[in-house]
Amino acid sequence: MTTASGPTPPATRTAAPYDVQRIREDFPILAREINGEPLVYLDNAATAQKPDAVIDAICGYYRTANANIHRGVHRLSVEATKAYEGARCTVQRFLGARRPEEIVFVRSATEAINLVAQAYARPRLAAGDEILITTMEHHSNIVPWQIVCEQTGAVLRVAPITDAGELEIDEFEKLLGPRTRLVAVTHISNALGTVNPVAKLVELAHRHGAVVLIDGAQAAPHLPIDVTALGCDFYAITGHKMFGPTGVGALYGRYELLDAMEPYQGGGEMILSVSFEKTTYNHVPHKFEAGTPNIAGVIGMGAAVDYLNDIGLNRIGTYEQGLLAYATEAISRIPGVRLFGTAAHKAAVLSFNIGDVHPHDAGTILDQQGIAVRTGHHCAQPVMERFGITATVRASIALYNTHAEIDRLAAAVATVREVFA
Ligand code: ALA
Repeated sequence: MTTASGPTPPATRTAAPYDVQRIREDFPILAREINGEPLVYLDNAATAQKPDAVIDAICGYYRTANANIHRGVHRLSVEATKAYEGARCTVQRFLGARRPEEIVFVRSATEAINLVAQAYARPRLAAGDEILITTMEHHSNIVPWQIVCEQTGAVLRVAPITDAGELEIDEFEKLLGPRTRLVAVTHISNALGTVNPVAKLVELAHRHGAVVLIDGAQAAPHLPIDVTALGCDFYAITGHKMFGPTGVGALYGRYELLDAMEPYQGGGEMILSVSFEKTTYNHVPHKFEAGTPNIAGVIGMGAAVDYLNDIGLNRIGTYEQGLLAYATEAISRIPGVRLFGTAAHKAAVLSFNIGDVHPHDAGTILDQQGIAVRTGHHCAQPVMERFGITATVRASIALYNTHAEIDRLAAAVATVREVFA
């Protein structure tokens, strides 16, 4: 892909051994100290840090090619349009979509899900129709469906999870029926790390004629995604969790479905012609991209995808699994620690409590030692309710974290208990 800052360098690292220290140099923020200690950033599930390649792509656009897209014949507009549409092709290949038109740029994974709820589900649902989700969903994959249920009289069904935080597949299957019109399920749980068997879930849902949306916000930075192989109908991702900027995400939608959907928002860009008598909508995907989009954000997201591809998601996944095993062992042997989310197949997320220390107190003590974790319900209150708690401490690992950082986390978690002993 060509970005506003110039051609992306060829993938040079894929064959080399995984050099985490070299990778860390790409992320300027990792050199910071917090409270006099080197930063240990373990809040990657909330938002990941940005490599120079992404920062440079965004700055490069503003410095050299800032113009609105799809609107001008002048050089800058042509260059900006080329970079923006180039990023669409980059995301298309990243997700394994068949054609670039199947990628709609949005504000976030949340907006992608709301788009499907309002533009696909709302006009198609009738009273008594069912939407099936799971207990482990992020609020972003619950509330849009509750809204559409209120609007249409459809009913929300929820598949349960086990004590390990795994989906109860039998129960999921039992909840599928002739009224199930849509299934919305997360690929990876942000609160527990569980990796769902999404290909199997898609197959089961399709057997019952339901359309499937997968919330891939947590999956995109950790494992290769192929929407065509998965067979899903919609797939939502967000830029900022995959080392890109905030305020940009992408919705994959099967072309036939997107083409048949009415626009979600009206405005410039999403039309072919407007008169007071009749407006004709633009083609997919532009009919879903009303208004001037986040051009710099899209270009930055494209650069983030290039960055991930350059290292290779399989290698990232293998490295992170090693760190997860190491961290699980280190954290779970600390007296008083209770881990939530022990699925056989999980991503590098450790959600835990330390005795009866409130997670916010624990998070503050960790911060004093330069360690950033998230504490709270992680926008997944039904998960907390399932385990009879209100909050956890969550350490979420990314491609730049190290074994030494896990050692520091474990040592700090041990001090938390001492403080409250
Ligand atoms: N969804 C983000 C998280 O899990 C904000 O922290």
